[in-house]
Amino acid sequence: MNAPAKTEEFAPAIPAGVFAETVTSVQHYTDRLFRFRMTRPESFRFRSGEFAMIGLMVGDKPVYRAYSIASPSWDEELEFFSIKVPDGPLTSHLQQIQVGDTVLMRKKPTGTLVLDALTPGKRLYMFSTGTGIAPFASLIRDPETYEKFDEVILTHTCREVAELKYGFDLVEEIRNHEFLAEVVGDKLRHYATVTREDYPFQGRITDLISNGKMFADLGVPRFDPAIDRGMICGSAAMLKETKALLEQAGLTEGANSKPAEFVIERAFVD
Ligand code: A2P
Repeated sequence: MNAPAKTEEFAPAIPAGVFAETVTSVQHYTDRLFRFRMTRPESFRFRSGEFAMIGLMVGDKPVYRAYSIASPSWDEELEFFSIKVPDGPLTSHLQQIQVGDTVLMRKKPTGTLVLDALTPGKRLYMFSTGTGIAPFASLIRDPETYEKFDEVILTHTCREVAELKYGFDLVEEIRNHEFLAEVVGDKLRHYATVTREDYPFQGRITDLISNGKMFADLGVPRFDPAIDRGMICGSAAMLKETKALLEQAGLTEGANSKPAEFVIERAFVD
């Protein structure tokens, strides 16, 4: 396996039509999860919650996967939160990147987890499992989220407590941030649960919705299509089951072209 190269070492091999950016920080959380930040091209614009195709040269070929951009649209850098799959075509290489390495990014971001795809409401739920928290890491750092909603509830469910750290660090960062802290105030609530370890909050989010425990823990009423909006990001099975629960409560799925009460996006990467 080739070690990730510095820009100058493989500059001639960079494919046309992509940005070649420089890694500025890497943080490993567990043997399955890490985060990295990289430079942002000046011309690169995106809406908080969107994803981009991220890649590396593997041998002489670029390998890309869809990655939610975890940083907000105002940030000078770009942040990504990634799983590490031992045999993953991209992540087996990406997990080895270091500060100064080059990461490729296709020029056009896209995605459905954007505020524009939701009709106005009062309470916004963001349901995530694992690295599905990434698009919400972007949205909870975007002041527009708090202009549009009175209450923002981020749920994050992982197998183990150590996997929740990225989310806890994020909320802590917001609370201490020089301008976000004031914009966010007490509107942001973080509901973190685990499924395979002892912890005060346990269980899959789908079960906690079905049995009412999530509502009781948060002290909020059950879903109301007049007030509540949702965004979902996780595995295919998690999306399907969470979507079914929102639909049972009378919420309908929206899209960029047709805003409605909730939107979904798969947390892809392998
Ligand atoms: P569980 O431990 O019961 O499988 P993963 O790391 O595999 O992506 O899982 C992240 C979290 O998503 C885990 O806590 C896992 O719970 C949970 N999960 C897996 N499948 C579903 C599903 N269909 N609905 C809700 N949560 C799920």
